[in-house]
Amino acid sequence: MKLNQVYLAENLAFLRNVPIDYCDLIYIDPPFFSGVDYKEFSDLWHSLEEYLEFMKERLIEIYRVLKVTGSFYCHCDPNAVFDLKPLCDKIFGKKYFRREIIWNVGSVSGFKSQVKGWVRQHDTILYYTKSDNFTFYKQYTPYKEEYIKKMFRYKDEDGRLYRKRRGGKQYLDEKPGNALGDVWNDIYSFQTSTRAKEYLGYPTQKPEKLLERIILASSNEGDLVADFFCGSGTTLAVANKLSRRWIGVDNNPKAIGLCKKRLNIN
Ligand SMILES: C[S@@+](CC[C@H](N)C(=O)[O-])C[C@H]1O[C@@H](n2cnc3c(N)ncnc32)[C@H](O)[C@@H]1O
Repeated sequence: MKLNQVYLAENLAFLRNVPIDYCDLIYIDPPFFSGVDYKEFSDLWHSLEEYLEFMKERLIEIYRVLKVTGSFYCHCDPNAVFDLKPLCDKIFGKKYFRREIIWNVGSVSGFKSQVKGWVRQHDTILYYTKSDNFTFYKQYTPYKEEYIKKMFRYKDEDGRLYRKRRGGKQYLDEKPGNALGDVWNDIYSFQTSTRAKEYLGYPTQKPEKLLERIILASSNEGDLVADFFCGSGTTLAVANKLSRRWIGVDNNPKAIGLCKKRLNIN
């Protein structure tokens, strides 16, 4: 299988040909059971059972191709997150459900804000690993300039800034901010910022910053990052920029066309 490549394929058939224990990080952003027929792909189903069966077959394969040290992120919205969670628990093991990440997509306007009740403002990303031996690098919200000036007042002979903590030194470069939690408020979706330069107009396209966070936290340079519902190729573009190897699959020719352009490949 050629890496750093996108494939126009039905992902279940494709996944069945991927070797066992192959990928270090898998992110998927599948259809959400939203009942919306996007021009590029359809999210219409006869029943929830049909949708869950579709997801189950693919999740079983995703589990098989994930390395024992690997991580899996499943992007969901409220339509089916509470149905997908028990399904993923069954496949990955409840014990390896690590976190429910709440991504605040920003405040919406237009008809979505007309709803009777609380306006929906987040997606959920279910995060699993395959064992307790997994790659993870904490991510930080950087301290504000004034805070650094006020708190990291000392400089050692190498020019490194530090503060005094419990009789020792805490270096700014070792703790560059507050460790990021599971509620992400600082990444806007294209629902609210369609004029962003990276926006290619693909329905439900995700921002690069979201994938950057996931890839930096859960992989090393040279690792293999896979997205089996890759759409416009956000995961792949970010993996490429961050010197990871990558592989993408989508069954929509328009999506694959966009990926190839975005990644400058044939
Ligand atoms: C929500 S979009 C992904 C968007 C992507 N995260 C991005 O940033 O552009 C879901 C994608 O899954 C693809 N898809 C749906 N069912 C599929 C299947 N059975 N095999 C391969 N791709 C599929 C659709 O064509 C669509 O591009």
